[in-house]
Amino acid sequence: MSPAEHSALAAVAGLLTCPECVRLPRPHENDSALTLEPRDRALRCGRGHSFDVARQGYVSLLTGASTKMIGDSAAMLDARATFQSGGHFAPIADAVTRAVTAAQRPDGSVLEVGAGTGYYLAAVLDAAPSTVGIGLDVAKPAVRRCARSHPRAAAVLADAWLGVPIRDGALDRVLSVFAPRNPGEIARILADNGRFVVATPTERHLGELIGPLDMVRVDPDKDRRLDNAMSGHFEPVEHTLVEYPMTLDRSDVANVVGMGPSAHHTTATDARLAHLSQTVEVTASVVVASYRPAA
Ligand SMILES: C[S@@+](CC[C@H](N)C(=O)[O-])C[C@H]1O[C@@H](n2cnc3c(N)ncnc32)[C@H](O)[C@@H]1O
Ligand SMILES: [Zn+2]
Repeated sequence: MSPAEHSALAAVAGLLTCPECVRLPRPHENDSALTLEPRDRALRCGRGHSFDVARQGYVSLLTGASTKMIGDSAAMLDARATFQSGGHFAPIADAVTRAVTAAQRPDGSVLEVGAGTGYYLAAVLDAAPSTVGIGLDVAKPAVRRCARSHPRAAAVLADAWLGVPIRDGALDRVLSVFAPRNPGEIARILADNGRFVVATPTERHLGELIGPLDMVRVDPDKDRRLDNAMSGHFEPVEHTLVEYPMTLDRSDVANVVGMGPSAHHTTATDARLAHLSQTVEVTASVVVASYRPAA
C-alpha cells in the first residue's frame, strides 16, 4: 500500500460501515463506523471487526456471506484500460464529470459502483480537487487497478447487490457507468440533496461492430427497465445523449470487444476481425442521466 492509497482510504473510512456489524440485529451507527489509523494496514470498527488493506491498496469488505458474483476478469480489465487510454471514451468521461460535478459542494464525496479501472472516477476527481472518491467493484483485478487510478480514489471490494458498505445519507454523488445499479441501496446512502449519475449505452452504441462480430446487443427495452428500477427511489433531473463517431483500428476493436459483455460470448473473434478494414468508423452512443432522491 502506497502513502497515497493509505491516505485515500483514511479520507473515506468515516463514510464506510462495517459489513459484519450491519448484519447484527440492531447495528449501532457509532460502533459500525470504520477507521484507519496512521501506519495501520487494516480498517477497524468499534466492535473489533477488522479488514486488512491488501498490498495492492484496496480493502475487501466482502463478508463471510460471500458473493457469488465474480465480476470482470483480469483480461477484460486489461482490454478496458488499454481502450480507455486511447481516449476513445473521453467525451463520455467529460459528460459524466460535468453531470457529477454540477452544483456539487467543493468538499464533496463520490462513489462509483462497478468502478472497473477507475477511469471515470479519476476523471471526476481531477475536476473536483477537494472531493474524496470511492471505487467499489466485486472483481479483484478491478479494485487493484482502481486503487492506482487516482491519489484520492479509495478502492473497496464488495458486491453492490449484497449491500453497499456505506453509512446512510453519507454521500453527495454516486456514479454508475455501464455497471450494475442497486437503486434501493443507492437511495439509502445518498444525502437528501445528492445526485445519482447513470451512464448507459443506447442501441446505437458500437452498432457497426455488433453484426460483424456477433456482439451482445443492447436490450432495446433497457431505458424502460432503468426507469422502472429507479422509480420510487429517484426522480430524473437531467438527461444528455453523448453520440459521436470513433475511428478504431483492429487492436482497438479487439479491446472494445474484449472489455465488454461480448468477451464472454464472442467466438472466433480473431477470424471475424480479419474481415474488417484496417480502420473502421464506429458510433459511441451513451445516455448520461442524473437523478435526485424521490421526495
Ligand atoms: C462493464 S464494467 C464497467 C466498469 C467501469 N465503470 C468502466 O466503464 O470502465 C462493469 C463493472 O462492474 C463490476 N460489477 C459487476 N457486478 C458487480 C457487483 N454486483 N458489485 C460490484 N461491482 C460489480 C464488474 O466487475 C465490472 O468492473
Ligand atoms: Zn463491526
